[in-house]
Amino acid sequence: MLPRVNPTKTKAWKALEAHAAATADVPMRDLFAADPNRFDRMHLRLEGLLLFDYAKHRVDEQTLSLLEQLFDQCGVSEGFKAQLAGDAINETENRSVLHSALRSSQNDSLMVDGQDLRPGIVRERERMLDFAESVRDGRVRSTSGKTFKHVVNIGIGGSDLGPRMAVEALKPFAHRGIQMHFVANVDGADLHETLLLLDPARTLFLVASKTFTTQETMANAEAARTWLLQHLGDPAAVADHFAALSTNLDKVKAFGIRPERTFGFWDWVGGRYSIWSSIGLPLAIAIGAEGFRQFLAGAERIDRHSVEAPFRQNIPWIMAALGIWYRNFLGAATHAALPYDQYLHRFAAFLQQMDMESNGKSLDRNGQRVTYATGPVVWGEPGTNGQHAFYQLIHQGTELIPSDFIASVLPQHPLHAHHAKLLSNFLAQSEALMMGKVEAQSPYRVFEGNRPSSTLLFDSMTPEALGALVALYEHKVFAQGLVWNLFSYDQWGVELGKEMANVVLPDLEGDGPIGLHDSSTTALINHVRTLSSKALSV
Ligand code: F6P
Repeated sequence: MLPRVNPTKTKAWKALEAHAAATADVPMRDLFAADPNRFDRMHLRLEGLLLFDYAKHRVDEQTLSLLEQLFDQCGVSEGFKAQLAGDAINETENRSVLHSALRSSQNDSLMVDGQDLRPGIVRERERMLDFAESVRDGRVRSTSGKTFKHVVNIGIGGSDLGPRMAVEALKPFAHRGIQMHFVANVDGADLHETLLLLDPARTLFLVASKTFTTQETMANAEAARTWLLQHLGDPAAVADHFAALSTNLDKVKAFGIRPERTFGFWDWVGGRYSIWSSIGLPLAIAIGAEGFRQFLAGAERIDRHSVEAPFRQNIPWIMAALGIWYRNFLGAATHAALPYDQYLHRFAAFLQQMDMESNGKSLDRNGQRVTYATGPVVWGEPGTNGQHAFYQLIHQGTELIPSDFIASVLPQHPLHAHHAKLLSNFLAQSEALMMGKVEAQSPYRVFEGNRPSSTLLFDSMTPEALGALVALYEHKVFAQGLVWNLFSYDQWGVELGKEMANVVLPDLEGDGPIGLHDSSTTALINHVRTLSSKALSV
């Protein structure tokens, strides 16, 4: 069981409130001026991987010490241990949370409920990687004996965002002869536009769904199957052109996908934490088995770091603590993720699900409504594009927006002069946000500064580095959920909309009396019905 501590009742919380009030007006530039060693004290390095700089934050030694006490008093360390031990810490679903085990290179047994999970993990990983290699090298072929040129991942949420983000992020490492596509939306435009790009005789569909019941994914998978049959004419082709990534093996079989093409995982892998499982198949096809193993190894390095490093050396814990400082003591409502890396252009979207589906909650672990702010709104875009869009508000708006600046020293493309320009913007923006510009001819040209940011500077964005980046945020999010006394691994908040969509659908499609809705929804349903039937009768 996870600890159940109301963070606001801890001594550390109260001390942090007083400390925030006492230090609110101290500008960071004064902290830098007063301490030439600030960077030395406030950065961490993981050799050959990452430099994490948190000097540009509104914190001093006392802030960090109080945040460390808050972590202690809320049982963050105990929470991490309970997760790794396989305790059913996802209590509302009565499940363990063991995605870290998927990237572990340990061979010892991992006993949960009297069962050793390790052999199954290794077996599915090796099957999945072997299949990925077979697609890459042409051992696995289409029904007409052709190699696959297009791979289409059909999935949504955690069955889409992680692999999509990672395939984009690691494009420089990808097999360029295989084009990866992702279809998620139940808006038919998504599938339609993708199908237009495909050669049916050389297309492999991966149906990625933990439950294999998700409306969007099943609608897209069924339409893709129909399209394939229309083009290839042979019902047997489904078995050759489809693979499944799922925990629901019966439903996969009923769809017509062969067991050899079905790659399983387990209910102790949350959707938004499933990139490490068979859900990672698109990434494995793109970058190969060895690349995927490096991706796992990068995450495993962070797993070890997050349990072994003391608070002041622990990068995800410092990230989490800073987030709590801004959210709960300085009133920040949002958090920006700003990768200066075009290949990471889907990173913020991926992070949104990881963070907001995990900590976007208002009941604590005692079932009580919280009296404090929990997960922030997470958002972002790659730099420098964001600079020409929303940075105005970060620099001069009324919101405090703590930001993560993410980049790599070495680019994954040959345009080195571009990279110097990119990094000059990367460094200039965080400096400008912190320093501001107080002397100016016009008040409109004054920048108050004191806008906080972290810098995550990777050596280069390799598969290992990407694995580490994702794992850093996973641990950050979990540490925050522990302090906020939340269950970070369930997602009941997405259920109501799903249920109600199933109620509205027959009302929209039918012509009988409409079910009971509010007056606005009823009128909107009637409007759609009227316009659709007019369009159909033309
Ligand atoms: O959005 C809710 C959710 O349950 C996510 O947590 C999950 O990643 C997504 O739906 C997709 O679910 P599935 O993989 O079962 O299709």
